[in-house]
Amino acid sequence: MSDQKNLSPIEKIKTSSDGLRGTLKESLLDEITGAVREEDHALVKFHGMYEQDDRDVREERALKKLDKLYSFMIRLRIPGGLISPEQWIAAHHIAGAYSTGVIKITTRQTIQLHGILKRDIKPTLKDFDAVKLDSIAACGDVNRNVIASSHPAQSPIHKEIHDYADRISRALLPKTRAYYEVWLDEEVLVDKKDEEDKLYQDRYLPRKFKIAIAIPPNNDVDVFGNDLGLIAIVENGKLAGFNLAVGGGLSSTHGNPGTYARLATEIGFVNTEEKILKAVYEVLTVQRDFGNRSDRKLARLKYTVDNMGVEAFKSELEKRCGFQLEKARPYQFTERTDYFGWRQNNEGKWYYTIFVENGRVLDDEKLPMKTALLMIAETRKAQFRFTPNQNLILGDIDEKDKPLIEEILNNLGIVRHTENASAVRKNSIACVAFNTCPLALAEAQRYLPTLISKLEPVLDKYGLLQEEISVRMTGCPNGCGRSPLAEIGFIGTSYGRYNLHIGGDRLGERLNIRYKDNLDEEGILSELDRLFAAYAAQRSPGETFGDFAIREKLVKV
Ligand code: HEM
Ligand code: SF4
Repeated sequence: MSDQKNLSPIEKIKTSSDGLRGTLKESLLDEITGAVREEDHALVKFHGMYEQDDRDVREERALKKLDKLYSFMIRLRIPGGLISPEQWIAAHHIAGAYSTGVIKITTRQTIQLHGILKRDIKPTLKDFDAVKLDSIAACGDVNRNVIASSHPAQSPIHKEIHDYADRISRALLPKTRAYYEVWLDEEVLVDKKDEEDKLYQDRYLPRKFKIAIAIPPNNDVDVFGNDLGLIAIVENGKLAGFNLAVGGGLSSTHGNPGTYARLATEIGFVNTEEKILKAVYEVLTVQRDFGNRSDRKLARLKYTVDNMGVEAFKSELEKRCGFQLEKARPYQFTERTDYFGWRQNNEGKWYYTIFVENGRVLDDEKLPMKTALLMIAETRKAQFRFTPNQNLILGDIDEKDKPLIEEILNNLGIVRHTENASAVRKNSIACVAFNTCPLALAEAQRYLPTLISKLEPVLDKYGLLQEEISVRMTGCPNGCGRSPLAEIGFIGTSYGRYNLHIGGDRLGERLNIRYKDNLDEEGILSELDRLFAAYAAQRSPGETFGDFAIREKLVKV
């Protein structure tokens, strides 16, 4: 078991938090500051929020001797990314009332709102609760939002898989009632036995934990970038079970060679619902008991798996499960992209996938996306489904209702916007970074669209504009926008500068490798001009940019 000496300070905060309550109630009453007390800072994460400050105005406020401009980001728990039109309408109005107004679709199939003041947290969570949405365990050292392949037209087993995402999410929720007491004013629990938590106990996990379920042939979830990946095995049109892959994770720390991105390792196959849920549960208990609790930078499951060795990890898991895993079964990924535009599923229902650049839903002078989505939700004729590529699927639309939805999409410019965006833009992802993320070293979502506009003419020059090259940017090496799994990954090093990584594949099965350090925009454009010229001239038929970079040995594997 892990060394329990030199526990990191967060460990103590967790165990003495009285079921994640801490002094949150007192923190909320304190009107002198927009922040919560220091120890509560770590605890709010377990309730699905981050305390942040506006970094654009930090210096200016410091000069005026003002406190930082604190606010909160709230992220919902939406397993499989599916909500009803009523829930979207509520999110629209809550975003308008309490946050910056922008609804951000994240790479983990959920939405988050920024800029919520401390006094508005309770009204926000109460309004979400009224439509059965919560933010429990959306952040913190617990299992986070469970994601699942997003497109219903992809496979008849889609619904079954989404039910798994929901069941797994519920099975791994912390038992504490703190969320209900602190934010929703529920009565204080007298008998704490009701919230005894066999899984998380009082120390929770050493670090965050992420689960994804993929339905081959599409790996839109980037299943190997997760602590635990489940790959659906479909035999004779039916779900036979799942291959399990453990120990994926994308973050690393600049200058800390002990940290690294890692693809999850497949360890076997499980079938029957009971065994699947048991195996998932016990992967978490192994991590709970063996994970590193002294150094949070080395605490993710990937390090536990590498420290124990894959075989030892598997044996420990099988011992706890009380059954052996079967040999992993064959499957193949052939794509990772979203299916933009209209598609129909096996039951004849219609789906329209909208391109949402970097997942930011807002109205601007070019496109009234937020208004259009509200109008569509108000018809009550479409469900809302978020994709792990930060896009939105309007779904479960009956044939007879399709013209109505189509009219709104056309009239408000959504179809034009989705169809006209270049392939590289539609396949791009950026994390939040500035101005809210405290860890950002460089811009990401506020800058990538501009950079893509500068890359498009370069791609066009070489006839590559419709190539689906995946470009992803993150403001630091934590990898929230899954940059280590892109064909071209930009990782922020300081303001305006990025390391350029190339050589990832298009399916999420190979990590990219650092190619150039600390490039500014000019450096990025000239490097990529050279690389695209070589790719256009020397690629084999059908070869992707990432595969070309590896075959030409542009980076060392
Ligand atoms: C040590 C590792 C990491 C840390 C400390 C970290 C921290 C953060 C923080 C502070 C934010 C809030 C940014 C904001 O909204 O202003 C954020 C956003 C987010 N992170 Fe991470 N993160 C880490 C790694 C990852 C990884 C590897 C993934 C997924 C593969 C991920 C997924 C997300 C998602 C989905 C968001 C929401 C925004 C978006 O879609 O860009 N994070 N993270
Ligand atoms: S990758 Fe870094 S900068 Fe971007 S959201 Fe994650 S922690 Fe923040």
